[in-house]
Amino acid sequence: MDRGNNNYTERIITDKNEGCKPKEIINTHVNIAGIEMKNPVTTASGTFGSGMEYGEFVDLSRLGAVTTKGVANVPWPGNPTPRIAETYGGMINAIGLQNPGIDTFISRDIPYLKQYDTKIIVNVCGRTVEDYVDVVTRLAETDVDMLEINISCPNVKEGGIAFGTNAKAIEHITSEIKKCAKQPVIMKLSPNVTDITEMARAAESGGADALSLINTITGMKIDINRRCFAVANKTGGLSGPAIRPVAVRMVYQVRHAVKLPIIGMGGIACAEDALEFIMAGASMVAVGTANFNNPTATVEIIDGIEEFMKKNGVKDIKELFGCVE
Ligand SMILES: Cc1cc2nc3c(=O)[nH]c(=O)nc-3n(C[C@H](O)[C@H](O)[C@H](O)COP(=O)(O)O)c2cc1C
Repeated sequence: MDRGNNNYTERIITDKNEGCKPKEIINTHVNIAGIEMKNPVTTASGTFGSGMEYGEFVDLSRLGAVTTKGVANVPWPGNPTPRIAETYGGMINAIGLQNPGIDTFISRDIPYLKQYDTKIIVNVCGRTVEDYVDVVTRLAETDVDMLEINISCPNVKEGGIAFGTNAKAIEHITSEIKKCAKQPVIMKLSPNVTDITEMARAAESGGADALSLINTITGMKIDINRRCFAVANKTGGLSGPAIRPVAVRMVYQVRHAVKLPIIGMGGIACAEDALEFIMAGASMVAVGTANFNNPTATVEIIDGIEEFMKKNGVKDIKELFGCVE
C-alpha cells in the first residue's frame, strides 16, 4: 500500500488514449475552519472505527479525513445485543456508543492514523458537559486536526441527544467546549428535531467552527415472528440511503441559516449522492452505512467526484458548493 504523499489536490486527469499527456487540472481541495483537506470526503463516525478494520481495503491516505468512532472519557460497554437490524434502504443501530475510552484511543488509534497522509477528526461523546470537556482537554495536546462533538446520538439515555434537541443546551455545551478546545470544533446535529435551523444557530452562537449533519433518525423495527423488538434497546438510529432526502433537505436549510461550513452525511453511497449534498450546501461529505456494504465506497466516491468534475468542466470543487439556490 502506498502510504507516501498521495496528494490528489491538483490531480492531473489524463485521457487513456493520450497516454500520460496532462489534459486537465482539477482542484478538489477543501478548507474547513482553517484545516486544508485534499478532497471533500471523510468517513461518518462509528462506521469506520479508526480505520484499522478498513486499512486492508482502503488506502487511508486517499481520504480527505478520517472521522473516528465516538470516544468518551472512560470506556463504555454500549447497549445490550441485538444492536443492529437491516431495514429497507438502510439499517437501525443501537450500539450505544461502545468505545474503549480516551486513554486507549490516544495510545492506540492516534498513532495508527498518523501513519497516513490524511486529516484526523475525532468524534467525542459524553454523558455530561464535564465528560465532553474532559475528552476535549485530553485531545488538546494530541496531534489530531479537528473535533466532532456528538450531541445527537439517539441511543444513549444521558448526554447525546438530550443536548442535541435543546437549543439552549447546544449553545451552552458548544461554548464550554470552545473554552478548552485547541482544535476547530464541529458540532454534529440531530435530525430528530422540529427545526434543525434553530439548533444550527444555537451552535453558531456558542462558537462552533463548523457543523456536521445528520446523525441517525430515531426508528423502530418489530420482529413479527418473535413478537419483539428487532434491537434490544427497542428504538435505534435509522441510517443509509432511506434517510438521504431528509439529510439533503436539512443541509440545504442549515446552509441558509448560518455561515458555518457544513459536513453533510446521511445515506451517501456513490459519487452522485455526495454531489447532491455538495450542491445543497455541504463543503465536505461523510460516508457511513455504505462502508458496511462496500468497504471501498469512500475511494470510489472520490474517484466519481473527480470524474464528474472532468466530464462537466468543473475546475474547482468549490464551484459546486451550494450551487443549487
Ligand atoms: C453503526 C453506527 C454507529 C454510529 N456511531 C456513531 C458515533 O459513534 N458517533 C456519531 O456521531 N455518529 C455515529 N453514527 C452516525 C453516523 O456517523 C451518521 O451520522 C449516520 O449514520 C448517517 O449517515 P449514513 O446514512 O451514511 O450512515 C453511527 C451510525 C451507525 C450506522
